[in-house]
Amino acid sequence: MRSSGINAEPRLKFERLLDAEKIERRVTELGLQIARDYKGKAPLLLGVLKGCIVFMADLMRHIDLPLEVEFISAESYRHGSKQDAEITVNRNSQLSLKGRDVLIVEGIVDSGRTASAILENVRAEEPASVEVVTLIDKPASRRMEVRPRYIGFKIGNDFVIGYGLDNTQKFRNLPYIGRIADQ
Ligand code: IMP
Ligand code: MG
Repeated sequence: MRSSGINAEPRLKFERLLDAEKIERRVTELGLQIARDYKGKAPLLLGVLKGCIVFMADLMRHIDLPLEVEFISAESYRHGSKQDAEITVNRNSQLSLKGRDVLIVEGIVDSGRTASAILENVRAEEPASVEVVTLIDKPASRRMEVRPRYIGFKIGNDFVIGYGLDNTQKFRNLPYIGRIADQ
């Protein structure tokens, strides 16, 4: 039987793109920058499940402000092609964003559809401000205009996994970010 390390099944070929130290350095910088920009405020970090989990946990520990955390999720229902997908935003009905400084925390922004739907949902509640921080940005894949205020790393069209990001729900526990090798 194969050993069951984190690189064990499911079988998938990938190579290291961003190692844990590099991610940690960048996440620290982002946290310090956010803390400076929101000085005197109590931002609400709104994590987009599930890709945000590792990033958000690390990021918030570098923001020395009286912040709060909440979560939101989005599901896409496909009608035919991926481009036709309809996005439904799911959120806790107790969550109130009116007058808050909302910082949406995303693991990755790809086409921008998910972030746009969430931005629309958040803006409808008249927050004092709303910005997006994403660990990974794939600007070349954009189909909707979304400009994250804070970006960890810009990458090309690669599919990446690890540090919270999945491939069919697996690999979120990789401590670094891997790029799926061309098959
Ligand atoms: P969107 O295309 O910007 O709406 O991104 C939709 C979702 O697809 C993201 O929130 C991720 O869950 C997922 N996704 C897009 N690109 C990647 C990737 O490279 N790795 C893992 N998940 C991805
Ligand atoms: Mg996914």
